[in-house]
Amino acid sequence: MYEQVSHSLLNRLLDNLDADIRKHDLHHFYLRLGANFYAIHSLFHHLYGTRADFERQMLRLIEVLARHDLARNAELRQLDREREDNHNWFLSQEWVGMALYCDGFAGNLKGLESRVAYLQELGINLLHIMPILKCPRGASDGGYAVSDFRALDERAGTLDDLRSVATDLRKRNMLLTLDVVVNHTSNEHEWATRARAGEKQYQDYFYCFENRDIPDMFEETMPEVFPETSPGNFTWDEDMGKWVMTVFNSYQWDLNYSNPAVFIEIVDIILFWANQGADIVRLDAVAFLWKKIGTTCQNEREAHLILQLLKDCCQVTARGVLFIAEAIVAPVEIAKYFGEDAVIAKECEIAYNATLMALLWDAIATHNASLLNIGVRSLPNKLDRATWLNYIRCHDDIGLGFDDNDIRLAGYEPLAHRRFLVDYFTGEYDDSPARGQPFARNAKTGDARISGSLASLIGLGSALDEDDPEGIEMAVRRILLLHSVIMSYGGIPLLYYGDEIGTLNDCNYLDDPAKANDNRWLHRPRIDWDKAELRYQHGSVEQRIFEGLQRMIAVRKSIPAFADFNNRELLDTDNPHLFIFMRNDPFQTGDNVLVVTNFDNAPQSLDLNDLRNRGRFAYGQVRDLCSGESPTLYHDTLVIPPYRFYWLSDRPSY
Ligand code: GLC
Repeated sequence: MYEQVSHSLLNRLLDNLDADIRKHDLHHFYLRLGANFYAIHSLFHHLYGTRADFERQMLRLIEVLARHDLARNAELRQLDREREDNHNWFLSQEWVGMALYCDGFAGNLKGLESRVAYLQELGINLLHIMPILKCPRGASDGGYAVSDFRALDERAGTLDDLRSVATDLRKRNMLLTLDVVVNHTSNEHEWATRARAGEKQYQDYFYCFENRDIPDMFEETMPEVFPETSPGNFTWDEDMGKWVMTVFNSYQWDLNYSNPAVFIEIVDIILFWANQGADIVRLDAVAFLWKKIGTTCQNEREAHLILQLLKDCCQVTARGVLFIAEAIVAPVEIAKYFGEDAVIAKECEIAYNATLMALLWDAIATHNASLLNIGVRSLPNKLDRATWLNYIRCHDDIGLGFDDNDIRLAGYEPLAHRRFLVDYFTGEYDDSPARGQPFARNAKTGDARISGSLASLIGLGSALDEDDPEGIEMAVRRILLLHSVIMSYGGIPLLYYGDEIGTLNDCNYLDDPAKANDNRWLHRPRIDWDKAELRYQHGSVEQRIFEGLQRMIAVRKSIPAFADFNNRELLDTDNPHLFIFMRNDPFQTGDNVLVVTNFDNAPQSLDLNDLRNRGRFAYGQVRDLCSGESPTLYHDTLVIPPYRFYWLSDRPSY
């Protein structure tokens, strides 16, 4: 949009750009800057407009954008262009992701490059490499305490190794996702070191306080993220003689975004990684970006404005690069990270679907899809050009982040139900085969979250120990059932490394003092490649899971109805064990698909005639697109075996 005030400022800024920049031909850059400038200016002004150095800070910001624009290589520019022309590219069903720790998966980046073929064998074409930046030797929150945003941890490899992985992935038409930890740094980061040494400029990068007055005011309303290991939200720094805000671990210092210099540093860092070849940047802990006394310091409006501003800036210089919002917050809040009142994403194009994840685990524990059915219906609609990252497990704990009201509607009492779920997954509950552990128990609130690998939580570990073939079969089915939902629901499925071969809890972390007090390491395994070889051994657990997923992924990619164009219709059924929905082909060239999942350990039935009468599903002979089988119907009733799923085509000609 053209608007005089902002454009007269733009004229001044362009006149004052560093001579180094001005000598280049930047006409494409100017074009894109001009297109986004009104938004950039409005947001920057809203956040920092009262400062005397406002204009100088804006100039610095524009210079950062210009410098990265100049540094962006031809191949990446070409990709930007292609993605602009084909702007719905990331909504396609062709993408299937995996998140992994580079060291646990393959030792280091070189090792990872040699294992890319394994990922391709499974069908993965989007790779999220968990943090590999320089971080402290001891505790580093799994790399989320970064001590240098531009240098790799030498255990992972060199920047050249990473560029080589990025180039290799690009050749294979695979996407690279990297983390940028935007909310905090390690206390060993140069900014923190200089703050500690007394440099006021760097103390302003963080929230530092001489005494407890303000920290105590904040504490009145701020929850605790790691109540057991890092209680409270402030840490006393002896060298600095000040309290510093540390929402996560005491060694992770929260960045102060009310200082524009911090914002500009982070833009600089994001664009640096975009120029190293990241297709997608995962923005960590975005809900926490703005702190305000009297609030929980999560999901504040300014946190959204910062994300909008980051997006607008990134679009000027690296418009093909997408953002993932890691905001593990209440269902109504999550969808806001796409941006509100918009059609296309104006904050992050992709967001973790933490609600679906938690609801799926609820259905596993209860053998009942009631809360799942209610919970997904109360998730706000997402924007047209935005998509979910659907997942079952990740490197973090499982938070039971669904709505209390929904729990009541499903017929449970919220407190007791949450307690049941924690007991169930930690094996405290009598009938439970799960082997998780409680994470971050909060004695004050009674809250707890859950750690453990997919296979251990789902009961595979206990069935294997008991040598119980029936239990093993059911656990394998549950693993495939959960994946069948994330593959078909709409959005990008993100698998977690090791789950494809049924990796159990890994207790080795207990031997490492830097990890021993954080049981999320239970499910951050070192891959046993001998075990992975068993995927070729017919009848092995590894083969059943790996091949099941491999087939699912291949079939997903061939079904246009699984692309994410808001083409999902949740269907009611009076059978509480079933979760069913329709995926309509947005291009009307292929099948519409009825997804049917049974979360019970007994067979369940679905009256297809009822769906037909409601105009929801036309069928001739029913065919499951995943298995290729035609389940038999009895009087128009489909019988779904325990923990089975079907992807049923409605094409009568089958
Ligand atoms: C994110 C990461 C988590 C980390 C936290 C603090 O939530 O996923 O692993 O502990 O941020 O950086």
